[in-house]
Amino acid sequence: MKNTTQTFAEMKKKGEKITMLTAYDYSTAKLVDKAGINSILVGDSLGMVMLGYPDSTRVTMEDMIHHVKAVVRGAENALVVADMPFMSYQTSIYDAVKNAGRFIQECGADSVKLEGGVDVKEQISAIVKAGIPVCGHVGLTPQSVKAFGGFKIQGKSAEAAKKIIADAKAVEEAGAFAIVLEGIPAPLADIITNMLTIPTIGIGASKNCDGQVLVYQDMLGLYSDFTPKFVKKYDNLGEAMVNAFKKYDKEVKTGVFPTEEYTYKMDEEALSGLQAALIK
Ligand code: KIV
Repeated sequence: MKNTTQTFAEMKKKGEKITMLTAYDYSTAKLVDKAGINSILVGDSLGMVMLGYPDSTRVTMEDMIHHVKAVVRGAENALVVADMPFMSYQTSIYDAVKNAGRFIQECGADSVKLEGGVDVKEQISAIVKAGIPVCGHVGLTPQSVKAFGGFKIQGKSAEAAKKIIADAKAVEEAGAFAIVLEGIPAPLADIITNMLTIPTIGIGASKNCDGQVLVYQDMLGLYSDFTPKFVKKYDNLGEAMVNAFKKYDKEVKTGVFPTEEYTYKMDEEALSGLQAALIK
């Protein structure tokens, strides 16, 4: 059954945990969907894990649109959340609504996500008024990495925690259907989760959240540049891939691959006809 924003609300009411994973292409979206994950986030983390940038600030709307379209084609039941990239909503309310609308109209996404609280409350409210579900994102918001001076856990002091609480409240008041809490201490995640009626989706924010999200390359050992403390590696597919690539390299170079099993035959008559034509 298709997951919707209502599914999220009902799951929070029933105390059922919500699962979200990132995906950036058709094949991965199909696998995530098949696993029964409730939601797929086409995160701007694709800047790092797909495009090799040091952070997400160089990701453009065109990059996102390309990947969101592919994910939507592969996601049957998961709710697709399209991440709004840096400078696609901060600049004005008009830009925010226009760009959010592109994800719905051009790509077929189910919702959008954007970072920030009090400062982007008007943008969230305007997008929601346009009929587009919005997921908020507060705490360690990666688009602000340059302002934070690196990927640093947020909300550790009482003052900083109060600001994140105010941001989370602003997101809910603006009409968001869910909120990502990233890189904050567990007690703060607990306070926010109990305070809000909308579900909280945690990443590095403890089990006190209503759901969890991870970047799939991180949890499968496919991205080795940097692994945050909060990532649990469910498999090491990176190592499995390198081993398979090495095996292929060896087999091609030693003539082991491809054998007859992987080769197309040609009709004897057609072959002798061809040979005769070539001799003439
Ligand atoms: O871009 C992303 O993948 C995200 C998650 C880390 C929540 O925003």
